[in-house]
Amino acid sequence: MGFKNRDVISINDFSKQDILEVLDTAAEVEKNNQKYREALKGYILATLFFEPSTRTRFSFQAAMLRLGGQFIALSNPKSTSSMAKGETLYDTIKMVDGYCDIIAVRHPEVGSAKVAADATAKPVINCGDGAHEHPTQTFTDLYTIKKTFGKIDGLKVGFLGDLKYGRTVHSLASALSYFNPKFYFISPKTLSMPEEHLKELRAKNVEYEEDEDLLKVSKQLDVLYVTRIQKERFMNPEDYAKVKGIYKLKADFLNHAKKDLKILHPLPRVDEIDPELDKYAQSIYFQQAHNGLFVREALLGMLLGKIYKK
Ligand code: CP
Repeated sequence: MGFKNRDVISINDFSKQDILEVLDTAAEVEKNNQKYREALKGYILATLFFEPSTRTRFSFQAAMLRLGGQFIALSNPKSTSSMAKGETLYDTIKMVDGYCDIIAVRHPEVGSAKVAADATAKPVINCGDGAHEHPTQTFTDLYTIKKTFGKIDGLKVGFLGDLKYGRTVHSLASALSYFNPKFYFISPKTLSMPEEHLKELRAKNVEYEEDEDLLKVSKQLDVLYVTRIQKERFMNPEDYAKVKGIYKLKADFLNHAKKDLKILHPLPRVDEIDPELDKYAQSIYFQQAHNGLFVREALLGMLLGKIYKK
């Protein structure tokens, strides 16, 4: 399937070949960035973020500007748009459809990106729908892994922290399943990987282990994908208090890991990675965030039919 006019709702809508095409296009855009400075001239992106965001929102907006396009934005739409008067997401998207060429949405409800996509024929990009998925973060994560290791195949990947509510974990585990991985899911029992995702992995014959203790498996890992405990998704503050600060990586953790381990994190972090780790070559989470720009430039160009893999 081509990319022009396609929605980006779930990473599962993309084949291995599709994923590699996005990564190759992102690499081309990064390498020859000047060449694409007018690729989206005359196009408008609408960003509608119903939850806070720094990286995803800014990198999409910056990507559009870098490609010569423009953006219109709603932040806090529930207080600054007609949604405050009771307008639904569906109707809001139907209106925005008339003002732009492509739409990026983040919303706290699972399935909201699909609701948005059903309201318009224009491409809709899911920038996070509740605890469900965050597919453009996954393209960014895979791009970072490929750029760093020169490959994605056959890696041993640990996921640490909030695997229940961490939408980036759900999307990344699905996508990595194409690449013969072994997974180590490290979390407190109350925040373990949801059964529906484990079932999907078993069906795909993906090998995985679950543990609460990072040090039991840390020597095995090529990649450690750290996540924040998603405080905003807890129904009960007492449940959050029980797991708050449960994993805190410090520099001495590197003594318990392979020398060439790479630590990723979708960010923002709270206290799960001590800033003293930032200076080590193993820590690539800020590079990962910067890579999001090239990935989102590639996606915007591909979905609007203006940038193709070389
Ligand atoms: N990784 C990520 O989605 O960051 P933001 O919430 O800042 O967009």
